[in-house]
Amino acid sequence: MKEIITLVGARPQFVKASVVSRALRDAGIPEVLVHSGQHYDAAMSAVFFEELGLPEPALNFEAGSGSHGAQTAAILAKTEELLLSRRDRTLALMVYGDTNSTLAGALAAAKLHIPVIHVEAGLRSFNRQMPEEVNRVLTDQLSSLLFCSSETGAAHLRAEGISAGVHITGDVMHDAVRIFSGLATEKGEALRLVPLNGGAPFTLSGPAALLTVHRPSNTDDPANMAAILEGAADFSGEVIWPVHPRNHDRLSGMRIPPNIRLVKPLPYLSLLQLLAQAALVLTDSGGLQKEAYWLKKACITLRLETEWVETLEGGWNQLTGPDAAAIRQAISNPPATPWQPLYGDGYASQHIAAIIKAHFGL
Ligand code: UD1
Repeated sequence: MKEIITLVGARPQFVKASVVSRALRDAGIPEVLVHSGQHYDAAMSAVFFEELGLPEPALNFEAGSGSHGAQTAAILAKTEELLLSRRDRTLALMVYGDTNSTLAGALAAAKLHIPVIHVEAGLRSFNRQMPEEVNRVLTDQLSSLLFCSSETGAAHLRAEGISAGVHITGDVMHDAVRIFSGLATEKGEALRLVPLNGGAPFTLSGPAALLTVHRPSNTDDPANMAAILEGAADFSGEVIWPVHPRNHDRLSGMRIPPNIRLVKPLPYLSLLQLLAQAALVLTDSGGLQKEAYWLKKACITLRLETEWVETLEGGWNQLTGPDAAAIRQAISNPPATPWQPLYGDGYASQHIAAIIKAHFGL
């Protein structure tokens, strides 16, 4: 039987692929997992494979960091080489989300007439300044099977003339939260937060907020970072900030308010534990906006637009941008309507496996 080649490269893709890999296995669909090497630090990559039970990748391109062109090109060339060597055995190439690894993989496969499967298709911020927006628009154009988290994604695709192969399955990160929240509780291990600059691990002692920042529009602009930290400091308890490597070079020039605690990047189960205990989330991540929602936490999004527009309903998610006054205002503004389920039933990966089976006649 021919195989699906799955290409992953960045932290959130390991989470998404872990649940879909399980579903493919259960459905008897052979899969080969390949790592582009876009994320390479142990805390950004290896620890996720261990925790999530993802099989060791069959291959790692070790593309590493670089400019967008260089990183995308390196992954494109390596994917092409791989696909050429396995052409007869490959059913399709599966990619996730909107990173440089996603676009590079899709481009290599499409040029070789190998079907592209895109999980998390149809997302749009309508902001072409974001590299992710460029990656997702192009990946969707190149895909044969497009799995959307909600009707919003399918509507965006229709507006761009894409309707064949589009399926609304729900969001695979919902599956991950469902499966791994249980595991985090079962393991019964206390949450351990490791200070960024060394020092003894600690746990939460009172109400806490979780802060994450990794978008270049925020991290690369000192005024934006200062505004975010000033606004976040208004939270009445501790603000836990797991620091993405992108921030490292710029930390020395920042004034860190005393209630903001910098910690090392968190493994997925610890992130879920922290989220479960947190009172509030402040983030510019896409995935974390949804994870906050599923765990019924209020979220403040440090951007001016979101792809996850459904979470804005009732104020569960508020868009502030990097604006201290707007963040302060949002902190004092709790959700106004009861929580309701969004983005599927938590079994999106099973739906995806079933559709793949039917589509390819397996
Ligand atoms: C990438 C994705 C983004 C996704 C994010 C998840 C693109 C364009 N962006 O952003 O959509 O939300 O992953 O985290 O693909 N670095 C390390 N060690 C690592 C990884 C990165 O030190 O393991 C540093 C490097 O200096 C690198 C910088 O972080 O230049 C940014 O990494 P990169 O993979 O280019 O993009 P992310 O910001 O992680």
